[in-house]
Amino acid sequence: MKFATAAFVASVAALAVAAPTKTIEKRAQNCEQYGSVTTGSYIVYNDLWGESGATSGSQCFEVDGLSGTTLSWKTTWTWVGGSSIKSYANAVTSFTSTKLTNIKSMKSTWKWSYSGSPTNADVAYDIFTSSSAGGSNEYEIMIWLAAIGDAGPISYNYGSDGKPTAVATVTIDGYSWNVYYGSNGSNYVYSFLPASGSEITSFSGDVLAFITYLTAHQTLPSSQYLTSVGAGTEATAGTNAVFTVSAYSMVISE
Ligand SMILES: *[C@@H]1O[C@H](CO)[C@@H](O)[C@H](O)[C@H]1NC(C)=O
Repeated sequence: MKFATAAFVASVAALAVAAPTKTIEKRAQNCEQYGSVTTGSYIVYNDLWGESGATSGSQCFEVDGLSGTTLSWKTTWTWVGGSSIKSYANAVTSFTSTKLTNIKSMKSTWKWSYSGSPTNADVAYDIFTSSSAGGSNEYEIMIWLAAIGDAGPISYNYGSDGKPTAVATVTIDGYSWNVYYGSNGSNYVYSFLPASGSEITSFSGDVLAFITYLTAHQTLPSSQYLTSVGAGTEATAGTNAVFTVSAYSMVISE
């Protein structure tokens, strides 16, 4: 897989030379398992954590630009075989870890699109909390803007139809969300999925509202510290999928 990836990088580089010049100078594609690119307050990660579950495939990403606090980036992937998640290309925002109660807002916009053939994937914020600033993660909060194919949330409870059962439905930032609760062995996981079942391809709102809902109405302790805030796509299966983030911002005010 290493050699295949290197060959792909080489072919992309060759194409880039032949392509007409763009107004925004693009950075090179990064296809490394732990590849990352830092731009402004964002770190974009390739994060191929589950790639060993695939029969074949690869994923690359690139950062396309930063304007103020608005980032644009994309990832291109193919994963064949295995039913588990292969990768989570995502943009993580830098901030100083602090108690949830110290956070004033987490204003975010996210405009994205998918092309090619992603057959099992999600588009989601992935937020982690811990009982101390430098501690290991205990709670995970996922806000899904899309569930593609069979992708579904972690849940303790499933209905007779085999589908996860929501613990609540709540309106936050102008959308109705089904709330799911479960554990993946490492973290307690709360997931918000659009109750409409439709994709939200242009989101704008205060992400802190999801957290304050959980501390007020679910079991997330308000004494937890915010440790990580990412936004990207978990890829399980698909061919020549291109996930393009034309605008992403996350501004955490403490
Ligand atoms: C589950 O646990 C791992 C830690 O091993 C964590 O990093 C990951 O994001 C979790 N995945 C999901 C989908 O909850």
